[in-house]
Amino acid sequence: MPEALENVRVTLASRPRGLPSPENFRTERGPLPTAAEGEVLLQVLYLSLDPYMRGRMDDAKSYAPPVAIGGVMEGGTVARVIRSRNSNFAPGDIVLSHSGWQTYATSSGDGLRRLDATQAPVTAALGVLGMPGFTAYAGLRNIGRPKPGETVVVAAASGAVGSVVGQIAKIEGARAVGIAGGPEKCAFVRDELGFDVAIDHRAKDFNAQLALACPDGIDVYFENVGGPVAEAVFPLLNDFARIPVCGLIAHYNNEPAEGVDRLPGFMRAVLRKSLTVRGFIQREFADQRPDFLSEASAWLADGRLKFREDIVDGLENAPEAFIGLLQGKNFGKLIVRVSE
Ligand SMILES: NC(=O)c1ccc[n+]([C@@H]2O[C@H](COP(=O)([O-])OP(=O)(O)OC[C@H]3O[C@@H](n4cnc5c(N)ncnc54)[C@H](OP(=O)(O)O)[C@@H]3O)[C@@H](O)[C@H]2O)c1
Repeated sequence: MPEALENVRVTLASRPRGLPSPENFRTERGPLPTAAEGEVLLQVLYLSLDPYMRGRMDDAKSYAPPVAIGGVMEGGTVARVIRSRNSNFAPGDIVLSHSGWQTYATSSGDGLRRLDATQAPVTAALGVLGMPGFTAYAGLRNIGRPKPGETVVVAAASGAVGSVVGQIAKIEGARAVGIAGGPEKCAFVRDELGFDVAIDHRAKDFNAQLALACPDGIDVYFENVGGPVAEAVFPLLNDFARIPVCGLIAHYNNEPAEGVDRLPGFMRAVLRKSLTVRGFIQREFADQRPDFLSEASAWLADGRLKFREDIVDGLENAPEAFIGLLQGKNFGKLIVRVSE
């Protein structure tokens, strides 16, 4: 019975400086939470690991509050209802929840979405049919707006967001140029996902390869990473190019530092090329989630949308897997299998 079980939680032990280390996390064991009237008790099956979690480890003002020291690390999860005191859910239901890095959690039922394992693997709700897939869809549809024949460039192209960006660009009739770390990821992006070209950002001649891959310039740069990739992209942008600024993973571990002021050069390019640069957080477009779910499910069913998952076993391995994500060690949407 669940009462005899314990809840295992990974909490934030300390705030990292630079790249997180295992010492920034603590694994704690305690009693199972109890579902109050109106609540459900959830057993977490899968935990999504995502780059935004690095931001939650910092005590800095952002679009979402940080995780408190000693608090359970935040995260999207797929869970099984094991006790229900809420008439909308029954034991055995599989739901999308935001239960964090722990084995059991309670929920009022608000924000829970029941999943149908006969439609798609339940883990897809954390990736291709979940927040990352929707991020790609929302950023491209609302900001990137690729037209047939235009060139769309995206980095972290084998990952959860980038893989969907390139595939939707292809569905829209655009050329998709993917950037990924290493030959294996590049082969996957090109041969499995169907991007027109894939380039390794670690290659010595990366800038030259990118220019060759974009003979007509770049119309949409879906910004996932920043850093040297963005610097290589900028000179190739066409007039009226659109830049959905989705993420800057190359900078997430940066300490605030003085450096060369590149802002004037950047603003000159924005002006001279009439660029549209717009940052976004996917939830700004929440009203488009139903459209996304129906379109993406259809693309998945007809084979136009493919995905790859990188599944790590055991909650105790979540910190190491997350640290690896920030270094490009994951290959596909990173998910932790928490329990069977
Ligand atoms: N705005 C939003 O609402 C929103 C929502 C979801 C995600 N995001 C952002 O979208 C981006 C991708 O997220 P994801 O979940 O799809 O992650 P992911 O691609 O599954 O995994 C992260 C990947 O980033 C790449 N990377 C790491 N460090 C890098 C560096 N220094 N330079 C270049 N690439 C680097 C690595 O791929 P390679 O080995 O191929 O380099 C790594 O595998 C992140 O910036 C994330 O913060 C934003």
